Amino acid sequence: MPRPFATAIVAMSLDGKIATRDRDDTAFSSRADRRFLNEKRAQSDALVVGAGTVRAGDPPMRVSPRSLLKGRPEPLRAVVSRLCLLSPDLKVFGAGTKTLVFTCEDASPGARKALAGVADVRVSPGSVVRASEVLEALGKLGAKRVLIEGGGELIWAFLEEDLLDEIHVTLCPVAIGGQSAPTPAGGAGFDAATLKRAKLLDSRREGDELFLHYSFRR
Ligand SMILES: NC(=O)c1ccc[n+]([C@@H]2O[C@H](COP(=O)([O-])OP(=O)(O)OC[C@H]3O[C@@H](n4cnc5c(N)ncnc54)[C@H](OP(=O)(O)O)[C@@H]3O)[C@@H](O)[C@H]2O)c1
Repeated sequence: MPRPFATAIVAMSLDGKIATRDRDDTAFSSRADRRFLNEKRAQSDALVVGAGTVRAGDPPMRVSPRSLLKGRPEPLRAVVSRLCLLSPDLKVFGAGTKTLVFTCEDASPGARKALAGVADVRVSPGSVVRASEVLEALGKLGAKRVLIEGGGELIWAFLEEDLLDEIHVTLCPVAIGGQSAPTPAGGAGFDAATLKRAKLLDSRREGDELFLHYSFRR
C-alpha cells in the first residue's frame, strides 16, 4: 500500500515565526489565510497536529465552513503527544469520529487511560512517535492525503524522515521576534550537508500576504 501524501501548512511572520513568544498564533494571519487552511483541510483525508499546538490554542480541527467539504466526510483528526498530558475536554476530542492520539511508552498508563474514552490511543515503542508510524496508521485507515498542521516539533519529525512531500507557507506582513517563539520546524535541525531543499511550485499574492507552495520532491 503506498504511503499517504503528506502536506504541511503554516502561517509565518516575516521573521520566520509561527507564534509569539507566549505561543499565541491567533493574531497575525488573515481571513484569507484561515479560509485557505480550511480549503486544504477539506481536501485532506486526515489532519495531524502536535500536542503543543493543541494545548496552545485548543483548535477543534474541523473544516469550517462545512460547505467546503462538498459532501466529503470530515477528515480524520490525529494528535501526536509524547507524554499524552491532554485534557479530554479539548475541542479536538469533541464531536465527530474518535480522534487518534499517537503517543509512546514515555506516557504514563494513567495519562493514556484518561484519554481512552474520547480517543483512539496508539502507543509507539520508545520515547518518540515516528512520522512513518503516523503515516502508516493513517494509510491503513484509508487516508491518501494527510495535512500536517504543525507545530514545529511535529513538522520536524516529518522532515527528519524525509516524509514531507510539500509545504504551504503563508508569509504574513508582521514581525514577531523572540528567541523562544516557535518556527515552522524545530527538532535537532539539519546541517549544511544534509539540509532539505525544496522547489517553488506556486506563489500568489493576496493583500499583503504571500501564499507560497513548495515541493520537497525535486
Ligand atoms: N502559525 C501557524 O501556522 C501555526 C501552526 C501550528 C502551530 N502553531 C503554533 O506553534 C506552537 C506549537 O509548536 P511546537 O513547537 O510546540 O510544536 P508542536 O509539534 O505543536 O508540539 C510539540 C509537542 O507535540 C508532541 N510531539 C510533536 N512531535 C512529536 C513526536 N514526533 N513524538 C512525540 N511527541 C511529539 C510533544 O507533545 P507532549 O508535550 O504532549 O509530549 C511535543 O512536546 C503553538 O504556539 C502554536 O500556536 C502555529
